[in-house]
Amino acid sequence: MKESFILRNVEFKNRILVASGTFGYGDEVPDLVDISKLGGIVTKSLSMKPRDGNPNPRIAETASGMLNSIGLANIGVHKFINDKLPTLKISGTIVIANIAASTVDEYCVVLELLDAQVGVHGFEINVSCPNVKEGGLSFGTDVKLVSFITKELRKRTEKPLIIKLTPNVTHISDFARACEAEGADAVSVINTVIGMSVNINTRKPKIATTTGGLSGPAIKPIALAKVYETSNAVKIPVIGIGGIASWEDAVEFFIVGASMVQIGTANFINPAKGISVAEGVKQYCKKNGLDSIDLLVKSLQTNKTISIIDSWL
Ligand code: FUM
Repeated sequence: MKESFILRNVEFKNRILVASGTFGYGDEVPDLVDISKLGGIVTKSLSMKPRDGNPNPRIAETASGMLNSIGLANIGVHKFINDKLPTLKISGTIVIANIAASTVDEYCVVLELLDAQVGVHGFEINVSCPNVKEGGLSFGTDVKLVSFITKELRKRTEKPLIIKLTPNVTHISDFARACEAEGADAVSVINTVIGMSVNINTRKPKIATTTGGLSGPAIKPIALAKVYETSNAVKIPVIGIGGIASWEDAVEFFIVGASMVQIGTANFINPAKGISVAEGVKQYCKKNGLDSIDLLVKSLQTNKTISIIDSWL
């Protein structure tokens, strides 16, 4: 059974990655998880300078989900290159560096620094963080800006370029088309959904920034609909993210059109979840006589005549 996937010039040994912000820099779990068994890891978003992020509290549990407003806290690109990359280089896994920035220039400089590193195999560009005033959603909800950022970054790398999109727009497919037109190799769908939660005793928001990004099983149906929409709008691969907590969830994402998937919030419960999801998907394919996950991708049996979403795609 063929589990691997090739994106541009990089071969992933399977289609299960761990999502940015849910697995640190990949060096915190060596005794718990053999990361060489994952398709790859996506790092916490990296910016030019270290960032402390937003004030606490910045995480709250919700029904079947989690709200976060971390504010892109990270160690900065230089410390990542010096302190984290050497370990990742010998880990035997594919490393996708996620980049966040407050200006287009910052995206470009950080990408160029990382592009020069042998152990960085590709990039995921975060234009979709809902928790910062500059960058993040203010970029990711402007299709012209997403297009411009993609174009500028494409000029600067031959490695896979993936743009991570927000669901907090009317038509995510417009954004995916813009990325495809400017040379992106794939889009990640979706980042978190804006949400909030209130403590009824204090009448205060449960997180300091009032709103945050909702993730976890609560958003899986939204993510599936966005992956379905996007994969019907573009030819480049769609990487599905949003509430995947089991191999069955991953199979659903493949059926609606994802070529690869990322495990996010579930890592906080079990950091080895990605490995068991990869094994479960493999067994499902074998049981169903599928030689490759390609045969599963976009295999949804729809009745187009009664599909609302297809009518405006
Ligand atoms: O607040 C955060 O660091 C979240 C980032 C994201 O959702 O992209």
